[in-house]
Amino acid sequence: MPTELNLTSMNINLKNEPVLVIGAGIMGAGIAQVASQAGHPVFLFDLREGAAEKARAKLAITLEGLVGKGRLDAQSAQAILANIQAVATLEDASPARLVVEAIVENLQAKRALFQQLEAVVDSETILATNTSSISVTAIANGLKHPGRLVGMHFFNPVPLMKLVEVVSGLQTQPKVAQAIFNLSEAWGKVPVHTRSTPGFIVNRIARPYYAETLALLQEQAARPEALDLCMKAVGFRMGPCELMDLIGHDTNFAVTQSVYEANFYDKRYIPSLVQREMVDGGLLGRKSGQGFYTYPAGMPTWTPHPVEALNAAAQVVIHGSGPIADHLEKQLSERFNEKFKSTGGQSLKRDNSNGWVGLAIDDARLI
Ligand code: NAI
Repeated sequence: MPTELNLTSMNINLKNEPVLVIGAGIMGAGIAQVASQAGHPVFLFDLREGAAEKARAKLAITLEGLVGKGRLDAQSAQAILANIQAVATLEDASPARLVVEAIVENLQAKRALFQQLEAVVDSETILATNTSSISVTAIANGLKHPGRLVGMHFFNPVPLMKLVEVVSGLQTQPKVAQAIFNLSEAWGKVPVHTRSTPGFIVNRIARPYYAETLALLQEQAARPEALDLCMKAVGFRMGPCELMDLIGHDTNFAVTQSVYEANFYDKRYIPSLVQREMVDGGLLGRKSGQGFYTYPAGMPTWTPHPVEALNAAAQVVIHGSGPIADHLEKQLSERFNEKFKSTGGQSLKRDNSNGWVGLAIDDARLI
C-alpha cells in the first residue's frame, strides 16, 4: 500500500543538499551543470558504461570555452566540475536528497527506475522526473511513497533556458511541488506549476508546431532550411527543424507518440512518417552528428544558419507589399547580403507584381 510521508519532519529545504541526476544525455548533463553551479554536490549516473564520465569531460570543455570567452572565472569553472561526481551505481549516490531523472522517454523504464530507487535512497528524498510528456501520475504508480514524486521539466539547453514546469500528478504532495518550485527559483529559473495533463503546457502547445513542420516536409512543400529561414524571419530564435535537431529526433518522436496516445489518438497529435524515418535511419540530430543538418565532430555548439545553407544560385524573393513583407525583408536582407556580398552573387529581391505576400526560394512559395 502506498503511504503518505510525514512531511512535517521532512527536510523540504533542498539548499546545498546532494542531488543525484540519472541519465547523462543532453538533459541530464545540463541539469547536473545547473545543480552544481547552484552549489549542490551532484552525483551523475547513466546505465551506459562511461557515459557519465564522458558527459563530465564534455562539460569540462564547455566550461573551458566559457572561461576563454571571459564569461566565467577559472575558479568557478573548477568548482562546478569538482562538484560533479560520475558514479557507477545508484548505491554510490544513496546520500542524495533529491533525484532528478532524465533517462529515455519511456514509462516502463522510468517506473522501474523509481521503484529501484526507493530501495536505495532515504524515504524522504524527493524524486523528480524530467519527462516531457509522460504522466507523472502513471510514473508514480507502484511507488511506496508516490506523494514525493513530482515533474521537474527543464528545457533544452538547460543552462540557458529559464522555464521549469513543476508538474503535479494525482498523488504529488503540494509541499513537494512547492519545494521544487522554490529550488528552481534558487537555481535562477522561472518555474510554473502545472498539472500532469498530456504534454503539460509547453509540449501541448509545441506539438502541433512540429507536426505542421513535418507535414510540410512530408508534402515536400519546402526544405528544412527554408522552413527555418521563414520562422526566424518572423521572429523565432530558432527554426523548427534546427530545434528538432537540438531536441533529438528519438526523444522528440517518443514525446509525439506519448502525447498522441495520451490524447486518445486525437489526430491533431498524430506522429509523422518523416520523424519515424529519421529515427529508423539513426539520423537523430546533433547527438548523432546528422539530422536535418550535419554537425561536424567536435563542433557540438554549431548552429546551422539557414541563410548559410542556401546555395549561391538560389533565387530568394520577397513577394507582395505591406507590413509582413516589409518585416520579412528587413529581417532577411542584412544576413542575406552579408552572405553573398563577398561572392558578388545573389541579393535578396522584392517583387510587388502579384497578389500574395511571402517568401519564395527557387520559385517555391513558402509562406
Ligand atoms: P538522451 O538520449 O540524450 O539521454 C538519455 C540518457 O539516459 C542516455 O545517456 C541513456 O544511456 C540513459 N539511460 C537510459 N535508460 C537509463 C536507465 N534506466 N538508467 C540510467 N540511465 C539511462 O535523452 P535526453 O534528450 O537527455 O532526454 C532525457 C529525458 O528528458 C526524456 O524523458 C526527455 O523526454 C526529457 N526531455 C528532453 C528534452 C530535449 O530537448 N531533448 C527537453 C526536455 C525534457
